[in-house]
Amino acid sequence: MQRIAVISDIHGNLPALEKAIEIIDQEAVDGIFACGDVVGYGDSPNECIEKLRELACPVVAGNHDWAVAGLTEYKKSHTERAVRGIERTRAMLLEENLRWLQNLPLYHRENGMEFVHASLTKADQWHYLTRRHSFTDTAWHDVQNNFSIMKGRVCFVGHSHLPTIFLQKRFGRIKFIHPQSDSFELKGRRAIVDTGSVGLPRDLSAKPTLVIYDAKEQVVHFRQFTVEGQNMHLIEAAGKPPSIWENTKRHVGRLMGAN
Ligand SMILES: [Fe+2]
Repeated sequence: MQRIAVISDIHGNLPALEKAIEIIDQEAVDGIFACGDVVGYGDSPNECIEKLRELACPVVAGNHDWAVAGLTEYKKSHTERAVRGIERTRAMLLEENLRWLQNLPLYHRENGMEFVHASLTKADQWHYLTRRHSFTDTAWHDVQNNFSIMKGRVCFVGHSHLPTIFLQKRFGRIKFIHPQSDSFELKGRRAIVDTGSVGLPRDLSAKPTLVIYDAKEQVVHFRQFTVEGQNMHLIEAAGKPPSIWENTKRHVGRLMGAN
């Protein structure tokens, strides 16, 4: 499998998922993978699940998927807005789609590539690798621990909604990269790639993002796109301030010596 597409954090946003699939269709990929949070917040959880079931692609569970599926405590661990989204989604969900959510694995590995929603360490605890408000020592250790238990060269995650690459350089040094351009060459280095979000982007551009990964060339392509009729800044404004990405960059840069 040379060329794959990775999507994450669709959050029940059907127009965004349809646009992502349209873009992927033009990329001649060998496979599609989804890193979780198929549902939560958006109006179309059934339709989004059914699209993924049609694609028959590997999907790992996100915290919202598990919360809606009744597999995890969510009232204390999520914001009020998230709890409302989870309960609203649960009320809309068809029984067979609920069962599909309940059967999602937390982790998938294929062709030396790994896929998890948040973190390889304690996948059901949903630790953030890319922090939204600050970058703590705990998150830094999580990144190191993820590299130490990664079996292959590349692991794909979602959860933060912020397109990011953690790159393991020589002597175990880790560099944090916010992709400034469309493509990034791994050049044999191990990487954790946070794909960003299809349905609810949280970086300053507020553009949905998906990843195309060329495993042979070891190049990560971030594809940002717009969705007709959707203003992602307004969608996001309902929940989080746009300053989150600037805060993240500042804290991560300080702790990791990154640019
Ligand atoms: Fe999410």
